[in-house]
Amino acid sequence: MMDLTSKYLGLNLKNPLVVGSSSLTTSVAEIKKLEKLGAGAVVLKSIFEEEILNDAQNQLNEAKENSFIYDSYSETLDYLDLHVKEERLNAYIQLIKNAKKEVLIPVIASINCVSNAEWTSFAKKIEQAGADALELNISLNPTDLVIRDFEQTLKAIIQKVLSEVKIPVAVKINNGFTHLARTILDLSESGIAGLVLFNRAYTPDIDIQSMEAVQGRSFSTSDAYIESMRWIALLSDQTKCSLAASTGIHSSETIIKQILAGADAVQVVSALYQNGPEFLVELLIGVEKWMEEKGFSSLEQFKGKASHKKVGNPAVFERIQFMKHFAGIN
Ligand SMILES: Cc1cc2nc3c(=O)[nH]c(=O)nc-3n(C[C@H](O)[C@H](O)[C@H](O)COP(=O)(O)O)c2cc1C
Repeated sequence: MMDLTSKYLGLNLKNPLVVGSSSLTTSVAEIKKLEKLGAGAVVLKSIFEEEILNDAQNQLNEAKENSFIYDSYSETLDYLDLHVKEERLNAYIQLIKNAKKEVLIPVIASINCVSNAEWTSFAKKIEQAGADALELNISLNPTDLVIRDFEQTLKAIIQKVLSEVKIPVAVKINNGFTHLARTILDLSESGIAGLVLFNRAYTPDIDIQSMEAVQGRSFSTSDAYIESMRWIALLSDQTKCSLAASTGIHSSETIIKQILAGADAVQVVSALYQNGPEFLVELLIGVEKWMEEKGFSSLEQFKGKASHKKVGNPAVFERIQFMKHFAGIN
């Protein structure tokens, strides 16, 4: 019997395979199914800070058009704002409570945020509902010209949330920072329990028939794991918190690579949309088979074995130029 257990965010996972935040985790029935198929933990679909605010605004606009309601109740604005937010939050809180009653695996809540505004009080309610941890998808948009210092904004959000909750907080970031290595190390020392590397950004495309901008691929491809594997391998020896690899986990081989690089967990989404949640079983069997072939009986025996410090040729992870590689190609 293979021991696939892994500690992630201080939580004991039966295996490192976490179903990432997505519509795959929006109901208790789906979460139960994922647990049955072998998931080590689930991250719930995010509550979006802006989505909550937008919905409140839409209802408010409707009410304003209906002058009867609006004129009769001068406090409609306050009421609707609060009411809509509360409805959304209540549904989310209920999902956490119900999921916690039905499954044994950790249930990680998720908030997609861009500021440290009023949403941070949601975090406390999420904690009270019984979530095992909270993942913040801090989606600072690289096209934003107003924010001058993304790193400072990240830290301000983190500090505010950490002042609200005691449950472990993970932060999912994209890889668009000016000095990524420094940012990752600093964040790992900020008091958070884990980092999820990386979020997959929305990708646009251009349709050459209509000559219009269109939405790009929704799902990642199987070679997209390389970015997170590289940064996890480079920094896992130095980071002060757990690391989860995210984006491009489409096979058992990729999971093994990420664990070898030093990841404590991997998050999978696209591959489950494309192959169905049953694919979890195949992924886990593949990891066990490889462990057997290599003579490993536990994950700990090979976690981080190919990290930057431990590999014989660490320059592979550091190199940014192709020069040497191309030197031998005619
Ligand atoms: C359909 C879909 C919905 C998603 N919804 C969320 C979400 O609500 N919150 C979030 O943090 N990430 C969300 N993600 C991003 C995933 O959690 C994950 O970080 C990303 O897809 C990369 O992993 P993958 O390569 O396994 O798909 C979503 C991804 C997909 C494809």
